[in-house]
Amino acid sequence: MQTLLAGCPFGSPLVALEDVDSTNLEICRMRQRGAPEGALAVAESQNCGRGRRGRTWVSPPGENLYFSLLACPRLPAARAPLVTLVMGLAVAEALESMGFLPGLKWPNDVVLRGKKACGILTEWHADGDGYFLVVGTGINVNQTSFPEGLEGKATSMVLERLSQREGFFQREPVLALVLRRFSDFYETLEQDGDLSRLRGRYEKYLVNTGRAVEVLDPKGSWKGVAEGISDGGELIVRDGSGGVRLVYAGEVSVRGVYGYV
Ligand code: BTN
Repeated sequence: MQTLLAGCPFGSPLVALEDVDSTNLEICRMRQRGAPEGALAVAESQNCGRGRRGRTWVSPPGENLYFSLLACPRLPAARAPLVTLVMGLAVAEALESMGFLPGLKWPNDVVLRGKKACGILTEWHADGDGYFLVVGTGINVNQTSFPEGLEGKATSMVLERLSQREGFFQREPVLALVLRRFSDFYETLEQDGDLSRLRGRYEKYLVNTGRAVEVLDPKGSWKGVAEGISDGGELIVRDGSGGVRLVYAGEVSVRGVYGYV
């Protein structure tokens, strides 16, 4: 793995584990021991994998990628959710470079044929005067069956590949592709402070565009039609009265009115 990541700002120091509670928790422990930005924790399986909105991320051994990065972005804390969007974009571009047709369901689910193939959980931690982020990513690589309840909603690279090539995917090269793209986008994001140079690339994959979405705001859900994203990473949604509203990635999520997407 070290060779595949040579020169990449994210991926060192690297901790590779057989089994762990959660790679996100592992990064917190590494930070307590003084790990710098770029640290990477990867595991074969997680026995307490965490998803968004308090859900569990089922993490069986030997099939998928489960990894977390330590990021200390030179960005105001309000802009931290953009790092998650940038990871989604990195996964989408990496999959496209391997011959897939990925989509992004705002803010950060990567989908293949309308089903979720990757989830990202970014956790924010106060750190002295500043903050750090743990960017945890799960990519379904070689999983061929999913627990009841996830069938029809989840998929994997091996189930969705378009080429005739058979066999399972090697996971390390996929991880290296993602980390290299993430590093480039992260640098751009830090330079600009927003998504002005990345927004077009993100919108190319955005599956919500033109679709009815329900915005799950803790202050009250509402429905509208998604139109794209702003430079601040907000989802642009036209509401029922024709007004345009910006939905901030840190607070709410959206679901399709007519299905997952
Ligand atoms: C989601 O609910 O969509 C986010 C899922 C994030 C899963 C990844 S797997 C690696 C990292 N460790 C965790 O416990 N969660 C994230």
